[in-house]
Amino acid sequence: MTTTDQAPPAETAPAAQIDPDKLMAFVFKAVGDVGATLSTALVVMGDKLGYYQSLADHGPSTPSELAERTGTSEPYAREWLSNQAAGDIVTYDGTRYTLPPEQAFALTDPASPAYLPGIFQLALGTVHDTEDILTAARDGDGRGWHQHGTDVHIGCERFFRTMYNAHLINEWLPALDGVVPKLQRGATVADVGCGHGASTILMAKAFPNSTFVGSDYHAESIETARQRAADAGVDDRVTFEVAPAASFSGNGFDLVTMFDCLHDMGDPVGAARHVRETIADDGTWLIVEPMAGDKVEDNLNPVGRLYYGFSTLLCTPASLSQEVGLALGTQAGPARIKDVTTTAGFGRFGTAAETPFNRVLEVRP
Ligand SMILES: C[S@@+](CC[C@H](N)C(=O)[O-])C[C@H]1O[C@@H](n2cnc3c(N)ncnc32)[C@H](O)[C@@H]1O
Repeated sequence: MTTTDQAPPAETAPAAQIDPDKLMAFVFKAVGDVGATLSTALVVMGDKLGYYQSLADHGPSTPSELAERTGTSEPYAREWLSNQAAGDIVTYDGTRYTLPPEQAFALTDPASPAYLPGIFQLALGTVHDTEDILTAARDGDGRGWHQHGTDVHIGCERFFRTMYNAHLINEWLPALDGVVPKLQRGATVADVGCGHGASTILMAKAFPNSTFVGSDYHAESIETARQRAADAGVDDRVTFEVAPAASFSGNGFDLVTMFDCLHDMGDPVGAARHVRETIADDGTWLIVEPMAGDKVEDNLNPVGRLYYGFSTLLCTPASLSQEVGLALGTQAGPARIKDVTTTAGFGRFGTAAETPFNRVLEVRP
């Protein structure tokens, strides 16, 4: 900051009047927030120890029945069940605990469009790495995607795969002008920042005449993506490479996709320039970004709260860890994303689809 744009020194604030009702309302809101923080760890515990699956499979259970079936210690099952009942995840009839069908669908069925364990795992892994973010914030450093623990990588894939399963093939791709007929005939697709390749493999399964190249700078993610493609039987048409977005290989792509990764990049404009160089003249660039408005006040809601949390602890440090370090933030909003694409030489930009969590952008040369 130069001396000319320094804010004038704040005057000493007048002694504030404390309203006791507002104070207690804030304290009880904090109790809810702290309970939710702990519940995040307990949901991950229930997922990893198989508690939810066991409750879904066997119905109403006592703590000792749950402990025996899952090979865990009864006091843990007992306290966990009581926490889940207090948090309205299970119900309690005085003897047994029950996982209602809606909760079972959301917590145990990976094909459910509301499958939730991934976002809890991603959040817990993110919070777990907070200490390093404090250091980075003090030093003005970043922390790259590759520097996080596996709960972040696995949780991210599980969370996003749920949304892609629900929307990508049936809603988002058909919302793009002329893209589905090209994919049906046989198109070339670059899926950039593909992580574990959930989106790449989903598209490859839906469009057997098309070929796909997934890329990501994180080598371990690409290793997992290759294994997933082989398991899905699409590795004859899907290849993966370790490459930053500013230099993935190939050209003449009919479709370039970036799912929830543009804002994580240090140099999104450099990446956008590379997309411009490698996309066909009549190609389409699909960018999926977290739902956000252009102004902070547009995002002051539960979804914005969640995404600003990930932005502070995960996405902004990721961008700051790379060259340029633009730090767009998870809630950049469409105007800033448009800016990135037009600076790189793209002419057309629009929102093709939306969900409460995603903004789907169609960008054309
Ligand atoms: C939030 S994850 C999304 C992963 C994947 N697209 C998905 O939807 O599951 C962000 C991804 O962007 C990748 N990434 C970040 N910066 C990158 C860069 N400069 N070039 C390529 N990939 C990058 C990370 O490694 C990570 O896999």
